[in-house]
Amino acid sequence: MDIDALIARYDRRVPRYTSYPTAPHFSDAVGAATAAGWLAALPETASLSLYLHVPFCRTLCRFCGCHTSAVNTDAPLRTYAAALRDEIALVAQTIGKPLTVRQIHWGGGTPSILPAAELRAISESIRRHFHLARDAEIAIEIDPRRLPADRLAALRDMGVTRVSLGVQDFAPDVQETIGRQQSFAATAACAEALRGIGVGSVNLDLVYGLPHQTADGLRATLRQALTIAPERIAVFGYAHVPWMQRHQALIPEASLPDARARFLLREIAETEILAAGYLAIGLDHFAKPGDGLAQAAASGQLRRNFQGYTDDAADALIGLGASAISSLPQGYAQNAPRVPAYRAAIAAGGLAVARGVALDADDRLRRAAIEQVMCTMRLDLDALRAAHGAAADALDDAHPALAELAAIGLIAWDGRHLSVPASARPFLRAVAAAFDRYLDPVPTRHAPTI
Ligand SMILES: C[S@@+](CC[C@H](N)C(=O)[O-])C[C@H]1O[C@@H](n2cnc3c(N)ncnc32)[C@H](O)[C@@H]1O
Ligand code: SF4
Repeated sequence: MDIDALIARYDRRVPRYTSYPTAPHFSDAVGAATAAGWLAALPETASLSLYLHVPFCRTLCRFCGCHTSAVNTDAPLRTYAAALRDEIALVAQTIGKPLTVRQIHWGGGTPSILPAAELRAISESIRRHFHLARDAEIAIEIDPRRLPADRLAALRDMGVTRVSLGVQDFAPDVQETIGRQQSFAATAACAEALRGIGVGSVNLDLVYGLPHQTADGLRATLRQALTIAPERIAVFGYAHVPWMQRHQALIPEASLPDARARFLLREIAETEILAAGYLAIGLDHFAKPGDGLAQAAASGQLRRNFQGYTDDAADALIGLGASAISSLPQGYAQNAPRVPAYRAAIAAGGLAVARGVALDADDRLRRAAIEQVMCTMRLDLDALRAAHGAAADALDDAHPALAELAAIGLIAWDGRHLSVPASARPFLRAVAAAFDRYLDPVPTRHAPTI
């Protein structure tokens, strides 16, 4: 099958599989009481990873698909920070034992928008209520256009080890259309300042498929970005979902590259980054060979969670803040998505969990299959079934889809072992979808696969 036919066949809309079942399948069958029981059942030996969601930015970029809103004063940030501190105390109390935290990830939105005193206070509150591992990774997403000196000092005091900077594309007409003016000089200066306070790992986020994006423009962006020598680079496919993110409707559809152009843009990004000596990780990440993510990929320890690819090996992920999702041994639990409802729940003294899903044995098996495909691009079905104590014919329902993928060369498949060649990396989500029991056969509204 040629590339156009492949795109036509597989550019159907499938999830990014940062969880399985995916968030649209969460329901109010899981609420605060269920989540409290799950937290209380965590064993003393469980290690934790904390995700803190800060859904605020100074201005909104038109392309953004994150749960965030624009604020121009600090008052809502302070009240939100207070709710986060209360939630940290409440969650620790519900767990009821001092568990070790191995990773903290501040995401958003723009967590570095919080006043320096609030960043410090939340960080102290985590240290007070949990046992923070001495070598814990502390990561934060930063908007390089705005990082005042007092925030930088707060990040140093918090012991931040890894930062993720939004870049997207440096081409002026792309920036104009997405409503985000950001110079290379400001981005490089921000990375340098962060390295200056001891941050050892810098990640840059780029996006392909943006309005008015061209091959030459993306290549130029990448060549500039690579001079920053980031430890990691993510290149996400632009998810245009104006029915969910209304501000994206400000981006004219006619300015968006079509499926084939997206495919070529992705390929350009990959070629440039690989030529600079990085290793490709999963669907959309790249890392320097010595980086933790590359090592995790090499040793089969790579994981996929709501932040994308990670080397986080913690037993449970606890999401804090509006819309944040916890991944616990029993299932997923998501906080109320909107800030007022989240704050009201915390103020009332309860957990803010609004929905989620409890996993059954079949979900766990499929989740493991999908995570393995997304992370390692290979799967031994017999080994997987044995590890899960599953029946010999479990997952056989995936065979027709796998046979079709094999027939057109997107996977090698012998009835037991599946592997995805490097050339089929852009179609990884379509391969994972073969194991998704919940996938609607009628195309639903997700972002394009490629
Ligand atoms: C929380 S932001 C990063 C931190 C900071 N707010 C910033 O913009 O610099 C996370 C990243 O998600 C990516 N992103 C946001 N909206 C997206 C979309 N609609 N499609 C693909 N990637 C998107 C962008 O690369 C963005 O930098
Ligand atoms: S890309 Fe970053 S700064 Fe822009 S709206 Fe999204 S979260 Fe905020």
